[in-house]
Amino acid sequence: MNHTIKKYINDEIKVILLDEVDSTNNYCKEIGKKEFINTLVVAKSQTGGRGRLGRSFISKKDKGIYMSLLLNPQMKLSEVSKVTCVVATSITKVLSNYIDKTLFIKWVNDIYLNDLKICGILTESKIENNQLKYLIIGIGLNLEHQVFPEDVNASSIYDEAGIQLNKEELIGKIVNQVMNDLKDINDLNHISYFKKHMYLLEESVELLLQNRKHIGIVKGINDNFELLVEVNKNLITVSSGEILKVNRL
Ligand code: BTN
Repeated sequence: MNHTIKKYINDEIKVILLDEVDSTNNYCKEIGKKEFINTLVVAKSQTGGRGRLGRSFISKKDKGIYMSLLLNPQMKLSEVSKVTCVVATSITKVLSNYIDKTLFIKWVNDIYLNDLKICGILTESKIENNQLKYLIIGIGLNLEHQVFPEDVNASSIYDEAGIQLNKEELIGKIVNQVMNDLKDINDLNHISYFKKHMYLLEESVELLLQNRKHIGIVKGINDNFELLVEVNKNLITVSSGEILKVNRL
């Protein structure tokens, strides 16, 4: 499989394939401590898959793609915060070639199909002396049939679109698209693509800001991928946090 994945990847990237690991992001962190080259780590399962905000990411054996890219891009620190959103657009573009239904990106890092999460992205970075030392882009994509706990609000591509995708080819296409899109992280096409696919646009959401809940209406994003929400008739700009759908009665 290692060899097969490499066949689909355009750039010079070392590929490491693991049967089981706690988290491919953790594995990349270990590699990042040493001298490294651009590396892709793919695991068949994870025992401690991590998501944003301290959440876990269910990573059962052969049920999905669990992978992390360790990169050392020439990037300003101000650009690092854009990576997750750009990668979300890259994955959405690739998946849209296979899936007829519209895919949506839930700010800031999840991809939704039929109102259910099918993919999450966890970007981590190491900054030393005001310079980016490395970037880890972790991607978890649910492919095969699975029953998720209700509170996770997740599903898989098979369950929502009825298709089974070739894992190695899909990994290659995603990596190629990500590498291509990150070449010009400030390209405004990334912003317009994100806006077109934005989940919960013009909908009421619960916004968690520094542990305080607000109710607002999602108005879009600005050119820095910051979320724009109307709260009590004021437009506020949110750079980090979480939005939750408000279920109307
Ligand atoms: C989220 O749901 O908030 C993001 C989930 C990211 C999951 C992927 S799976 C591969 C990589 N390893 C991890 O531990 N997390 C990411």
